[in-house]
Amino acid sequence: MRVDYSDLNSTDIYKLMSNSVVPRPIAWIITEDDGIINIAPFSYFIPLSSKPPVVIVSIGHKEDGTPKDTLFNIRKTKKATICFVDEEHLEDMNKTALSLPKEEGEAKKFGIVTKKVLDDFPSVIADVESAMFCEFFDELDLGGKTVPVLLEVKHQYFKDGIVDESFNFKLGNIARVGKNYARLEDI
Ligand SMILES: Cc1cc2nc3c(=O)[nH]c(=O)nc-3n(C[C@H](O)[C@H](O)[C@H](O)COP(=O)(O)O)c2cc1C
Repeated sequence: MRVDYSDLNSTDIYKLMSNSVVPRPIAWIITEDDGIINIAPFSYFIPLSSKPPVVIVSIGHKEDGTPKDTLFNIRKTKKATICFVDEEHLEDMNKTALSLPKEEGEAKKFGIVTKKVLDDFPSVIADVESAMFCEFFDELDLGGKTVPVLLEVKHQYFKDGIVDESFNFKLGNIARVGKNYARLEDI
């Protein structure tokens, strides 16, 4: 069977791509605007370059056509903190995929505890093993509703005991496989 993408609607294309490009890491992104802590997961996410250290994450729009809060906040504040999701945080991560009004932050709504590690970057979700503090680098216009955003990693956070001085470490990350999740350790 051969499938011509030009014959497909966007739901079918998403189905094909998200079931084929697996596993996909999850960027659990915290942004902050006017004291509101916004949290949301994104799995169209991958590292692009080590020098400069840049990752890419593709963020779409809400049903009303406005940019998702994460995209709005990154454009406005030029900052984002990417947390890595382990099994312990899977349930909370899923809750944060709900689309809330911009003035209602997921941290407050779902009682997700965050902590400030660096004053000039958004907070980290308490107890995650690792997080990257990023600055807006650039964005691409693909002509659609999804906007690939390039983020430059400026600092990385590790929970105590995760990493040694030679940067040896292993995270218990969860990955997206189609609609489901898997522990990278089990793949
Ligand atoms: C595991 C997972 C991965 C997701 N990946 C993406 C993605 O790559 N791009 C996207 O626009 N939305 C993605 N979503 C949906 C967003 O998380 C969702 O639209 C969220 O409400 C956006 O929140 P915000 O408006 O606070 O930014 C994903 C959801 C889940 C559960």
